[in-house]
Amino acid sequence: MTSASALRPTFTGSERDAAAEGPAWYRTAAIYQIYPRSFADANGDGIGDLPGITSRLDALQQLGIDAIWLSPFMTSPQKDAGYDVADYCDVDPLFGTLGDFDEMLARAHERGIRVIVDLVPNHSSDQHPWFQAALAAAPGSPERARYMFRDGRGAHGELPPNNWQSVFGGHAWTRVTEADGTPGQWYLHLFDASQPDFDWANEDVREEFRRILRFWLDRGVDGFRVDVAHGLVKHDELPDYMPAEDADSMGGQETVPYWAQEGVHEIYRDWRRLLEEYDGDRALCAEAWLPTAAETALWVRPDEMHQAFNFPYLMADWDATQLRAVIDESLRAFGGVGAPTTWVLSNHDVIRHASRLALGADAPQGHGIGPLSAGKPDPVVGLRRARAATTLMLALPGSAYLYQGEELGLPEVIELPDDARQDPTWFRTQGERYGRDGCRVPIPWEADAPAFGFSETGSSWLPQPAEWAGLARDRQQDDSDSTLSLYRALLRLRRELALGASEDFAWIDGFPASTLAFRSGAVTVVANAGSAPVPLPEGARVLVASAPLEEDGSGSFALPRDTAVWLVRD
Ligand code: NOJ
Ligand code: CA
Repeated sequence: MTSASALRPTFTGSERDAAAEGPAWYRTAAIYQIYPRSFADANGDGIGDLPGITSRLDALQQLGIDAIWLSPFMTSPQKDAGYDVADYCDVDPLFGTLGDFDEMLARAHERGIRVIVDLVPNHSSDQHPWFQAALAAAPGSPERARYMFRDGRGAHGELPPNNWQSVFGGHAWTRVTEADGTPGQWYLHLFDASQPDFDWANEDVREEFRRILRFWLDRGVDGFRVDVAHGLVKHDELPDYMPAEDADSMGGQETVPYWAQEGVHEIYRDWRRLLEEYDGDRALCAEAWLPTAAETALWVRPDEMHQAFNFPYLMADWDATQLRAVIDESLRAFGGVGAPTTWVLSNHDVIRHASRLALGADAPQGHGIGPLSAGKPDPVVGLRRARAATTLMLALPGSAYLYQGEELGLPEVIELPDDARQDPTWFRTQGERYGRDGCRVPIPWEADAPAFGFSETGSSWLPQPAEWAGLARDRQQDDSDSTLSLYRALLRLRRELALGASEDFAWIDGFPASTLAFRSGAVTVVANAGSAPVPLPEGARVLVASAPLEEDGSGSFALPRDTAVWLVRD
């Protein structure tokens, strides 16, 4: 058995002392991601909105989550589903008004649900007034200095300033036409051309984001999920860089001149100080795609952010050796800086885990899946593994992120028609990468209602598969074997047994190599990622299992393949 002390935090700063008084909420919270355009549509235009969220808060309370994180709902031309913000301090009319936001926040708080909003500081929309002013102004002007404008290479500036590629495919630079009609400078966009990168060396930008943070904190939000938190600062010299063919498009390595630059950390130290002026444990969560937990932990040192998504965990296969290694590394790395570990299996950028965990080896995870993809997942195996993986995850100490619809066992939608797709990745790669629309389809609430209850008019911005009737929330509500019932049981027990705060995590050896077994607080968790059934210890009581166990007729139980169980001793 691995000694538990090996996994305890090594940092002995104020963060640890504070934790000793009772953990701040974000250290243990189950946080549910709402992708507003696909959650619930109150006005019937086929796009989810803030009043829709308010109308469905009871369902989230019943589910048993502690907080919600909302993907962007701010003013935006929606070129990247709201991750292209034109006004950071207002609500896009598609989603409602600031009044609707205040109402949603108040109703969530009434139910004891905290609310985190998305902050997109790496880039704005090209429709942001600052970028429009920069286009109208001359090279070298203060307006241009808020973004990354550079002269081109070549005799006439006709070549981009360097060879950087957009995460969504194609060049990361676009040339502008100057006010006099001549071809002019280039601007950097690590994502779509409609998402120009800010220059974070510019004090105007820093001051503007302080204002934006205060705007939402003053309205009462509990924190921020910070988009592309590893990307704000670029290497001074903007050196050429080409990612390896097989590199994950969102991934980062130390040598990438636009990810994980040392200077980025000072920004979060500044924000941390700002948040600490407010009461109530407001939190910052980093979206930083870095290859290891050890690198990710640099974003949550005691004077920086409070949480970071654990993407190395999300990227692990359904494989006991990989999972054990990433769990160990995560507890060690985040614990080492006194931060809570987070766990996550799905979000709006990756293939839903009910499909991803059964992908064939030849299907590249980063590119989405569609009708012509190789290695399409078996839906039955995928759902079985997803249920087991979530059962395993929700017993781990720390905070866990859930993505809307995973509690219904929704798979990735593979058969979307080409003309329905909206992800800029699809357009920028001329359909070579399907992108992320398959995990963004509006979720089903009622099997027999138009658009499965998503929208009264039956309208839905992406088509919902007919078979989702069987996965609608109302069909699962009273079925004790449903995925929804499993999530509710896991979240209730996790809270009752305070598993998120457990400090005595320890592996249990003696099981086959394809099994994960550990003790955390009062529970023993066993997960079988192999193909043969695994005998369970005698005398233990099953609290919850992701699938029925096998009984041998003499009272002994075995754990079938792709199943996880929580056990207690009476
Ligand atoms: C990460 C977000 O999660 C993703 O949806 C978005 O496209 C990029 N950042 C760019 O903002
Ligand atoms: Ca709507």
